Amino acid sequence: MKLRKVVSVVGAGNVGEHTASLLALRGLVDVRMFDLPKRDGEKLIEPVKGKALDILQMLSALNIDGKVEGYTVSPDGEGYEALKDSDIVVITAGFPRRPGMSREDLLDKNISILSVIASKIREYAPQSIVIVVTNPVDLMTYAIYRLLGFEKNRVIGMAGVLDSARFKTFISREIKVSPVDIHAYVIGGHGDEMVPLISISNVGGIPLKDMLSKEKINELIRRTQFGGGEIVDLMGTSAYHAPAASIVEMVEAIVTDNKRILPCSVYLDGEVAEYYEAEGLCVGVPVKLGNNGVEEIIKIPMIEEEREMWKRSVASVKKNIAIVEELINARSSL
Ligand code: NAI
Ligand code: 2OP
Repeated sequence: MKLRKVVSVVGAGNVGEHTASLLALRGLVDVRMFDLPKRDGEKLIEPVKGKALDILQMLSALNIDGKVEGYTVSPDGEGYEALKDSDIVVITAGFPRRPGMSREDLLDKNISILSVIASKIREYAPQSIVIVVTNPVDLMTYAIYRLLGFEKNRVIGMAGVLDSARFKTFISREIKVSPVDIHAYVIGGHGDEMVPLISISNVGGIPLKDMLSKEKINELIRRTQFGGGEIVDLMGTSAYHAPAASIVEMVEAIVTDNKRILPCSVYLDGEVAEYYEAEGLCVGVPVKLGNNGVEEIIKIPMIEEEREMWKRSVASVKKNIAIVEELINARSSL
């Protein structure tokens, strides 16, 4: 009998590895990691097994019980049997951004990787909740939603938690207040046109706009919108500590059924799509997370200026949906 929830992390690169490590440290779930073999000169090596073992040994050193396993898979989908019984599957497989590269540049390469992974999730973990991280994340979440055919509450993109954490970090450093006491949501697409919601942002209950000048707030908004790029330029690859922590926040909300309200990229249709003026795509909105995944999509109020930003952000996601459809259809006819 399975005693604890199982979280599978597909792609054990920077983000996946740190996610697995943080999940193991929290001690709430069993973790399974999946990744490709690598070449070390002539030799084929299995880093994912080494990483799982290393994390297990870290747990031992810290006197924490846990179960972490690594599985080597092939690009065409061999080796995924251990996805069986996963409650949550986190997808971080794919290519990250390099300096000068936009998230959209990644589209074609990452869809072909994700279509294989989706077919394995359908085969081995058809009841799971899937968290998509691979970029461009709103489009990849849409692609996974379409490829899996799962109910929309079980496919969730991670970005808003990260973008909001970045925004809170910048506010916290400016005002010199703990980020814990800052409430700020960033919604919209995970791109340069994401929407930090200033009208409802507050620090210890005091509106942000009463604490900082408009110029300073605009500066923090811009820094948040380019927050991913700032790290890419500094590190030469994209961020992984804060992204991993953001994934863990979402996993914990689902596993513990704590009903947190977190901004996540989800498929919009019906009444909420009408409210958000965004139908038939995945984009970041505040949602209530629990055992069933997305349990409610919150209709957050926006002032005129924010709604205009929101519309631009949605348009920047929407313009690529047709390309995603083409890529999915081309693969399904292979
Ligand atoms: P990475 O290159 O360190 O790791 C990616 C891993 O995916 C590698 O270990 C690679 O071997 C594996 N992989 C590639 N093809 C695979 C396949 N066919 N099957 C299984 N595994 C495969 O990249 P990193 O930094 O971990 O980023 C992963 C993805 O997450 C990128 O697309 C990145 O842009 C995205 N990302 C998204 C964020 C968000 O807010 N949504 C934040 C940070 C990263
Ligand atoms: C980030 O925002 C690259 O999407 C990734 O750090």
